[in-house]
Amino acid sequence: MPSDETGKVSFDHIYSQTDPRPFFRTLRPLEYGIPALAAPRFAALIDEYRVARGVPAPKLLDLGCSYGINAALLRCDITLDELYDRYSRWEGSRAELLTADRDLVRSRARPERAWYAGLDASAAALDYAVAAGYLDEAIRADLEAGEPEPAQRDQIDGTDLVLSTGCIGYVTEKTLLRIVDAAGTRLPWMAHFCLRMFPYDAISGHLDDLGYETVTVGEPVRQRKFATRAEQSSVLDRLSELGIDPTGWESDGWFYAQLHISRPRSSL
Ligand SMILES: C[S@@+](CC[C@H](N)C(=O)[O-])C[C@H]1O[C@@H](n2cnc3c(N)ncnc32)[C@H](O)[C@@H]1O
Repeated sequence: MPSDETGKVSFDHIYSQTDPRPFFRTLRPLEYGIPALAAPRFAALIDEYRVARGVPAPKLLDLGCSYGINAALLRCDITLDELYDRYSRWEGSRAELLTADRDLVRSRARPERAWYAGLDASAAALDYAVAAGYLDEAIRADLEAGEPEPAQRDQIDGTDLVLSTGCIGYVTEKTLLRIVDAAGTRLPWMAHFCLRMFPYDAISGHLDDLGYETVTVGEPVRQRKFATRAEQSSVLDRLSELGIDPTGWESDGWFYAQLHISRPRSSL
């Protein structure tokens, strides 16, 4: 299996398909479960935000949203296991799948209101997420590569919360700072589940300079199993270079992600 420069196996091909079936079918054996573990944490933070800022329907930006899985879990009463079953077993056409997904969003929508925007580099994944009704709005951008276009700035303007799973590492502080800059005068809150192999200090240092305070929340949680022994071995090497002890964590065969929440100091 091909690896990227960080030593992780590259699954880039599954992020650019016209529907999410290859994503779910490829990641199921690896028990990719971070969206399920993240959803209750995100929901609690969104509730906290509603109260703290008096915003009943906050504008959420799921960074590296892919097919809109985080949005689906937040806006619908559905589990990640159900999504795995749905997309692993579906034999019909993409159009039929989209019709079924739109029905699902209609019939199982939660009562809480929010605006779900997703930012990703993959046009195909974004198209699916919007057509299914998981996302209200798609922002196709690679903000590692450059500043947002004026139209993209307009889309990001007014963002209340920036959330992500499985994305830090693909993106760095460059993307986050560009989002903060485009979001307007009121700093958005942030919550990112970040693999331990991608230290968050570089990002939180920059956010501190902008007036944020970052807290590390809870214990690291399992993101997925390593795909190969070679992947595990190169990740263990990287952790060792970073001075992070993998004993009882990655040494047992899983990637671990840590939740970091950044709130503006003035609103604490
Ligand atoms: C591991 S997937 C995570 C998907 C989703 N957040 C989840 O947890 O199921 C990483 C996503 O980041 C996106 N991505 C990679 N590089 C990016 C970049 N520079 N800017 C925006 N999105 C990027 C990929 O297209 C992919 O959809």
